[in-house]
Amino acid sequence: MKLKSLESRVIIEPFRIRSVEPIRFTTMDEREKLLRDASWNPFLLKATDVLIDLLTDSGTGAMSSRQWAAMIESDESYAGSSSFYRFETAVRDITGFKHVIPTHQGRAAENVLFSLLVQNGDVIPNNTHFDTTRAHVEHKGGEARDLLIPEGLEPLTIHPFKGNMDTARLEQTIRETLGETSGETRNESRDNASGETRGKSQVEKARKKIPVIMLTVTNNSGGGQPVSMANVREVSRIARKHGIPFFIDACRFAENSWFVKIREEGYQDKTPIEIARELFSYADGCTMSAKKDGMSNIGGYLALNDDDLARECRSLSILTEGFPTYGGMAGYDMEAVAAGLYEALDEGYLRYRIRSTEYLGEKLVDAGVSIIQPTGGHAVYIDAKKMLPHIPPLQYPAWSLTNALYLTGGVRAVEIGSVMFGLQPDGTEKPAPMELVRLAIPRRVYTQSHIDYLADVVIHTYEQREKLGGYRIASAPKVLRHFSARLAPLE
Ligand SMILES: Cc1ncc(COP(=O)(O)O)c(C=O)c1O
Repeated sequence: MKLKSLESRVIIEPFRIRSVEPIRFTTMDEREKLLRDASWNPFLLKATDVLIDLLTDSGTGAMSSRQWAAMIESDESYAGSSSFYRFETAVRDITGFKHVIPTHQGRAAENVLFSLLVQNGDVIPNNTHFDTTRAHVEHKGGEARDLLIPEGLEPLTIHPFKGNMDTARLEQTIRETLGETSGETRNESRDNASGETRGKSQVEKARKKIPVIMLTVTNNSGGGQPVSMANVREVSRIARKHGIPFFIDACRFAENSWFVKIREEGYQDKTPIEIARELFSYADGCTMSAKKDGMSNIGGYLALNDDDLARECRSLSILTEGFPTYGGMAGYDMEAVAAGLYEALDEGYLRYRIRSTEYLGEKLVDAGVSIIQPTGGHAVYIDAKKMLPHIPPLQYPAWSLTNALYLTGGVRAVEIGSVMFGLQPDGTEKPAPMELVRLAIPRRVYTQSHIDYLADVVIHTYEQREKLGGYRIASAPKVLRHFSARLAPLE
């Protein structure tokens, strides 16, 4: 056998394991009792009762010996610690942004930025807002508008960059929000030399109604699908034409850079860090949850170029995050992120990371399981509506499948369907657009044999799919009900 074909069959984890954490095997009978005691809600299970935990890829990764070593050498000074300066240097080196403001996690960076930029009635375009981004925009009275390309909403359509923003709809949103015709918009950019005053006032107007354009890489809520460099460049061009700040929601910037390298013309010979630098060069700033491609268990930051906005952000972050040289993070957290950002950009790591997810997807597709395709960076999403057509949406097919995966093999996944999204503000219920089960893969935690086992659990459950039944909600809070709802299987 050629070494090349052996490499594509066997995924060699690009690390040796020197510290291990036991996981516990349980019997099917035990799992049934545990899940019943947890009111049929996997969020209410104890983590020690789970064999393979795929609830999230956020903050659940394994750190390297280099990160741990850096953490031991941290500086815990309240102000001006050397850990902060190492963190700032790493973020600046990769993003090129002038100001780096640490925050305790990604949503804290969103809170600071949106508190200053978003006002009642403003529209914030994004490819797809992640839940916390949407919640922050709405909390400030803004409208979070998703402008994903249509292919991004079709689970089976193959497209290399299903996370792209629909730039025609972005232009249209800007025109409509400004109350302009397309001709006037074009004039504004052409008039710059001759009609400075008119151009400026339109820019002011654009700033007021669309204070920022966001782009999420990769697109978590849309299946972890990547955004192409061409799309980032075009969104940036439009934003600059209208004088609107452009920010990247950068949680999975390294995974996105890898997809650009392997899928986009002209990037094959570039390194992930070069691609990442180019990506950030088109933006005015970014919000970041370091719990993903920062390879740490906690942390985040807001990075940006505008001096005045940065000054305001720092002042506000003192209120919610702490002094601007630690911002809710310990010195050792900043050390972990400073080292982790580079590890996330390592080619060997990225090849293994993206290939592992793809490998799981291939196994499921070969067995007939319907998933969102192509597989994204950090997770595989199973289409439960397709798998369980006999369970109506309001009997929660994706929830049923999630529970079946736990009962079958101790795997904890998460429902992204009508339990999560079905409850309407007026208290009524409406089926969610999709009934998905997300298998999110923590970074550097599971080996190929864990993934093989996981695939077997999903395939076995798929083969037993006709035996699965629906659920009803016995009790639930009014907000974010999936976290603590109590459910019961229907007879
Ligand atoms: C795309 C995206 N943005 C923002 C966040 C929020 O980050 P955090 O959980 O660190 O607050 C997440 C977290 O999953 C995310 O996936």
